[in-house]
Amino acid sequence: MDEIADAAVLVTGASAGIGEALALRLAAGGARLGLVGRDVQRLDDVARRCADHGVDVATWAFDLGDLEAVGDLAARCWDRFGGVDVLVNNAAMPKRRHVLSLSDAEAEEVMRVNFHSPVKLATTLLPRMIEQGRGCVVNVSSLGGRLGILNETAYSASKFALTGWTEAAALDLWEEPVEIRLITPGAIDTAIWSRPDNDDAEFVGELEPPDTVAVAIEDAILGGPFETYSPDMSAFVEFKMADMDAFQRGTIAAMRPEV
Ligand SMILES: NC(=O)c1ccc[n+]([C@@H]2O[C@H](COP(=O)([O-])OP(=O)(O)OC[C@H]3O[C@@H](n4cnc5c(N)ncnc54)[C@H](OP(=O)(O)O)[C@@H]3O)[C@@H](O)[C@H]2O)c1
Repeated sequence: MDEIADAAVLVTGASAGIGEALALRLAAGGARLGLVGRDVQRLDDVARRCADHGVDVATWAFDLGDLEAVGDLAARCWDRFGGVDVLVNNAAMPKRRHVLSLSDAEAEEVMRVNFHSPVKLATTLLPRMIEQGRGCVVNVSSLGGRLGILNETAYSASKFALTGWTEAAALDLWEEPVEIRLITPGAIDTAIWSRPDNDDAEFVGELEPPDTVAVAIEDAILGGPFETYSPDMSAFVEFKMADMDAFQRGTIAAMRPEV
C-alpha cells in the first residue's frame, strides 16, 4: 500500500496488546478500521479511542475459533467498508503446557484460532483483493514459529504452520496485485504472558512495548520486506539453523539448569 490514510484495514485481536497498539496507530494515520476480538468492553474502548481520530471504525465481537463463521465475518467486513485493503491476522492464543499435559482438544483449539482462522480470513479476502486490484495480508506469527519453545508445543506448531503458509502463499501470489507479509515478534509486554489457563511463562529478559510491533506492521503494510523480526531476534534462529543440537543444549541449560 502507498498510504495508510483511508485504507480499509481489518485487524484481528484488536482488543488488547499488539492489535490495540496497531489499531490506534492506524487510526492516527487515517485508516478505516474493522476491529475483531472477544472482549466486548475492551473492543469498544479501543474503537472509541480510534474514532477520536475522526476515522470510521466498526467492531465485531467474535470468537475466531468458530471456523464455520470466519468466512462470513470477512465478507461482512468487506461489505461494511465496500472492500478491504489490508487484513492483519494478529489474534492468537497461547496454551503453555508440558507436551504430555496438553489435551487433544486444547491443541486443536490453538490450531483453529492461530492457524486455520487466519488462513480462512485470508483465503476469503484474497480473491476479492485480487479482483479489486490491490490488497495486503500481514500475518503476525512469532519467534515461536521459527523456534520450538519449551511448554508451547501447540502454539509453536500453529505459528510454524502460519509462517510456512505465509511463505508459500507469497510465492503462489507473486504475480498478483496483492502483498503478503510476515511479522515475527520477539518477547512483547502484553497480556499473552498472563492469560488464564496457561502454565506460568518462563521468559526471562526484557519485554518490548507492543507499539514496537505495531510500527513494524505499519511498515510492512507500506511495502516493507517480506519478513520483519520485531524486535530483531533473528540471531537465535540463525544459531538454531547452524547447529540445532547446540541450540537445544543451550536452551535446556538456560531454562532447566537443574537437568
Ligand atoms: N506478546 C508477545 O511476546 C508475542 C510474541 C510473539 C508473537 N506474538 C503474537 O502477537 C500477536 C498478538 O499477541 P499479543 O501479545 O498482543 O496478545 P494478547 O495481548 O493476549 O492479545 C491477543 C488478542 O487476540 C485476541 N484473541 C485471542 N483469542 C481469540 C479468539 N478465539 N477470538 C478472537 N480474538 C481472540 C484477544 O482478544 P480477546 O482478549 O478479546 O479475546 C486479543 O485481542 C499474536 O499473534 C501473538 O502470537 C506475541
